Amino acid sequence: MKLKRVLVASLALGVSSAWAADPMTTKEELREVFQQQGSAARGARLFEVCTTCHGREGNGKADDGIPVIAQQHLRVIAKQLVDYRHAERWDLQMENVAARHKLGPARDLADVAAYVSALQRAPTPGTGDGKHLAVGAQAYARDCASCHGTEGEGNGVTLVPRVAGQHYKYLLRQLHDTLEERRPNMPPPHAQLLTPYGVDELTGIADHLSRLTPSRHVLPRR
Ligand code: HEC
Ligand code: HEC
Repeated sequence: MKLKRVLVASLALGVSSAWAADPMTTKEELREVFQQQGSAARGARLFEVCTTCHGREGNGKADDGIPVIAQQHLRVIAKQLVDYRHAERWDLQMENVAARHKLGPARDLADVAAYVSALQRAPTPGTGDGKHLAVGAQAYARDCASCHGTEGEGNGVTLVPRVAGQHYKYLLRQLHDTLEERRPNMPPPHAQLLTPYGVDELTGIADHLSRLTPSRHVLPRR
């Protein structure tokens, strides 16, 4: 698996250096994206290619592990796109979509993020079986809420994703990907916090978060 990743990564590097003579580092590109105003009107056109997977409303697909991106914080969306572009986060489909010669320069990333963050999130995400909600809620409040917020609302300024109302299967996969070192951009506390968890806590947290709807006052004003 690791060897395959290295091969894929070096192939991608070869391709991107052919496209851009002076590829920016992740940090430089992220800084450039954050300097842009972000036009939702331009973003709407760029979003067309995303709809096959994430849907017209950006609500993803609960059973296929495609995340809800509607109403995610603008800066979080932009960061994820930059991370996929620089192989700081791994997913062949998203790495392909976010490539510079497909999605375009920093301005395009800011525009599409502006459009997606302003979409309304459907209140019907995929959930778990409800068996471990209590243990999940308890572990979340103890270990995660300090960063992700008591209502799972996240924080665009500190680049913490909203996790409330996200599909259960997607969330659970992110937790397993983190434990199995398949999500390089996940901050280190995650692996440390998640390692002692049993299946009850892991499924319970994902289930708990999928059912949360943050109240209006904790979400960004538009
Ligand atoms: C071919 C299907 C496909 C297309 C097209 C696609 N996505 Fe994705 N997207 C995915 C999948 C699958 C994931 C989850 C990948 C992972 O586990 O890292 C994802 C993840 C994401 C994430 C991370 C979400 C999070 O919560 O961290 C963002 C942001 C995103 N996509 C935005 C976009 C945008 C913007 C476009 C269009 C420019 C797009 N996607 C096009 C399949 C797709
Ligand atoms: C120190 C702050 C901090 C703590 C504590 C923390 N997180 Fe996170 N979490 C983050 C940040 C920052 C990211 C975004 C990483 C990135 O840029 O991709 C993140 C990402 C995530 C994601 C990916 C979301 C997505 O849309 O793909 C999940 C799921 C998650 N955290 C769950 C948890 C859980 C469960 C806990 C508790 C066991 C936890 N986090 C504790 C800061 C934190």
